[in-house]
Amino acid sequence: MTFNAQISQLSQRLIEESSGVWAVHDQACEQFANGEDVYLLSVGDPDLATLPSTIRATIDSLEKGRTHYAPGMGEKHLRQIISDIEIKSSGKHCDPSNVVIFPGATNAIYTVMACLLNAGEDVIVAEPMYVGYEGIFKALNVNVVPVELDVENHFELDVDRVKAAVTEKTRVVFINTPGNPAGNMISEQQLRDLADFCLENNLWLVCDEVYSMITFDEAHTSLRKAAAKLDNVVIIDGLSKSHAMTGWRLGWTVASTQFSQRLLDFTSSTIFGCCQFVQDAAAFALTNDEEYIQGVREEYRQRRNYVCERVNSIPGISCQVPKAGMFVMIKVDELAENGLRFAEDLLKKEKVSVLPGIGFGQSTTNYVRVSLAQPINVLKPAFDRIERYAKKLLG
Ligand SMILES: Cc1ncc(COP(=O)(O)O)c(C=O)c1O
Repeated sequence: MTFNAQISQLSQRLIEESSGVWAVHDQACEQFANGEDVYLLSVGDPDLATLPSTIRATIDSLEKGRTHYAPGMGEKHLRQIISDIEIKSSGKHCDPSNVVIFPGATNAIYTVMACLLNAGEDVIVAEPMYVGYEGIFKALNVNVVPVELDVENHFELDVDRVKAAVTEKTRVVFINTPGNPAGNMISEQQLRDLADFCLENNLWLVCDEVYSMITFDEAHTSLRKAAAKLDNVVIIDGLSKSHAMTGWRLGWTVASTQFSQRLLDFTSSTIFGCCQFVQDAAAFALTNDEEYIQGVREEYRQRRNYVCERVNSIPGISCQVPKAGMFVMIKVDELAENGLRFAEDLLKKEKVSVLPGIGFGQSTTNYVRVSLAQPINVLKPAFDRIERYAKKLLG
């Protein structure tokens, strides 16, 4: 008898890749692994090293035997540190009962959305949006209502467009500031306006703030600082980007005590507590990072400046200067039918891999995203190739 391998509808939904956005990146990684001279500008994993003293603190924690189950909400000392940081940045009350620790922001987002949305309900999401959201919403079988950012005007959020998109089925408005892929920032006034509106309309407002520490010109404003009331507000943050700790898997939520308990119920069943020594590492990193974060910020600022200058000096492509984050969106419609074709052809002809804009939504079909997670001595030859490619196309 042959086994009839049936899988759940949830698993089935995750098979369907809507945009094919990773094909260029996967192909580039394969070529790179085969020793080909490929420049990978498609990755969002920081090339910078985790702070060496954090690594030493982790070894110390391991040697002390911190290798057991941890409390479902996370270690109290880490939650205390995060709530202290929150008080400083928002000026509002926060204590450890408002903070839940997760193995990465991705898991935190999944858990928050699973606790807020029923299948078939609407979540409004500002678009272009981080590619990672797609799988979460597909798994939960919720209806994503994209609201386009003002692509030509520094990808600014238009709060009125969000308001206009609300229907009876809307439960959650999900925003991301500073944004991936566009490095846009939502102002305090806009955040407050949105928070007021969501409260009046009985909607949850969830904000992904994982790039909060990588800002170049002005400081990040947290949704918790901007919102007049916090009952319907959830923020998500983590160490992956700011502390170059993607592989450590450490993220958190800050929410009302009541909702944090619901998150605890869920995460207790699915994760059963995060790694103790990683939480010790996070506690160390968050209390010894001032100089490190300044260095990280400065490094990305220089890379951003370099990339933007290069892009805007190459005929046929252009970019706006991102205010934050680790990426630059490049407009390529003078050179190709769309960003996907551009990315495919650039890899084929010049062995440079960039991410097609369609992966972030329809509004960035004519864009590609370049990552700043490479040093300038890699960005330079990669952009020499992009320049050669553009000049050849334009004859
Ligand atoms: C906007 C945004 N949110 C969340 C994540 C995922 O973060 P983590 O590594 O903590 O899961 C990323 C990673 O690229 C991101 O860009």
